[in-house]
Amino acid sequence: MNPPSSILIAGAGFLGTQLAELLAEAGCHAYTLRRSPTPLQASTAPASTPTRIHPIQADLLEPSTLADLPATIDAVVFAASADRSNPDAYQNTYLSAQSNLAHALLRSGRELQRWIFVSSTRVYGFSDGRWVGESTPPHIRDRLAETLLRAEEFTHALPWPTCVVRSAGIYGPGRNRLLDQCLRQERPLPPPGVYTNRIHRDDCARALLHLLHLPMADLPPTILAADRDPAESRTFLTWIYQQLGRTPPDLGPADRPRGGNKRCRSDLLLQTGFQFHYPSYRDGYPALIQSVLSTPPADS
Ligand SMILES: NC(=O)c1ccc[n+]([C@@H]2O[C@H](COP(=O)([O-])OP(=O)(O)OC[C@H]3O[C@@H](n4cnc5c(N)ncnc54)[C@H](OP(=O)(O)O)[C@@H]3O)[C@@H](O)[C@H]2O)c1
Repeated sequence: MNPPSSILIAGAGFLGTQLAELLAEAGCHAYTLRRSPTPLQASTAPASTPTRIHPIQADLLEPSTLADLPATIDAVVFAASADRSNPDAYQNTYLSAQSNLAHALLRSGRELQRWIFVSSTRVYGFSDGRWVGESTPPHIRDRLAETLLRAEEFTHALPWPTCVVRSAGIYGPGRNRLLDQCLRQERPLPPPGVYTNRIHRDDCARALLHLLHLPMADLPPTILAADRDPAESRTFLTWIYQQLGRTPPDLGPADRPRGGNKRCRSDLLLQTGFQFHYPSYRDGYPALIQSVLSTPPADS
């Protein structure tokens, strides 16, 4: 069977827009669904690709807006993100919205080649910095993670080939909050033994494209998307401060990490044939740092 060629990206934001670009470059059609009337602009798309990117304005929480989805869609990447970090918002976005979309497609009798749900490594709520991988049972320590896990179970129960991608924190062009905080010397160094798991947006989008094109028999039910360098947060932030030419502030100990404390192992992704462009923050951040250093502060 040919790989999917007409992909609905439900929640086309930071990650989904980049995936749409990659799909269009690969000759596929990408349907980018979000509530806002203005689609996000593909940043580096060659002139030929916009004709293969088709924005759809719809609200995944309003089933009536999902009634006329294009008949050609043969795969879904669910990459909508909750607006807020509270249980209701998580329930709405990851469960109700995912369910609304699935039922809209089921009602019209679609045969999808695959359904990929972008979940989060938050389901590993350990606090001791241990290594985790796909075979590690989730450790649920809050209602947000519990909701994500229920959403993953919903995905797996769908009648199409499914894959849950547990993504680490996604960084990339324009997501400058952390760099801006460090520029202002507002980000304290955490104590030793606290780890950060990240993935560059472009690698995460490339991983999704890779999973969409993987032969069906090789598609894992669950896979971690994290770079190869789960570093101590302290080491990572010290490096960022050095690159920015700033010294870390003496603000006392940082807050306990919200997403738990673990080290994500992305061996399975490599075993499926994926190669990282940015295996470490040391590869992915220099261009972003260059960009913030060359941008004048907003008030100048
Ligand atoms: N960012 C991270 O660090 C991170 C870490 C782990 C996992 N993830 C997962 O990765 C995925 C993508 O993250 P991202 O950073 O690309 O998020 P994002 O930039 O916030 O994009 C999500 C998109 O979803 C759309 N959306 C939200 N609710 C919707 C609704 N009811 N109907 C239609 N569209 C809706 C939003 O557009 P509108 O507001 O216009 O609707 C937005 O463009 C999410 O599943 C997220 O949970 C992200």
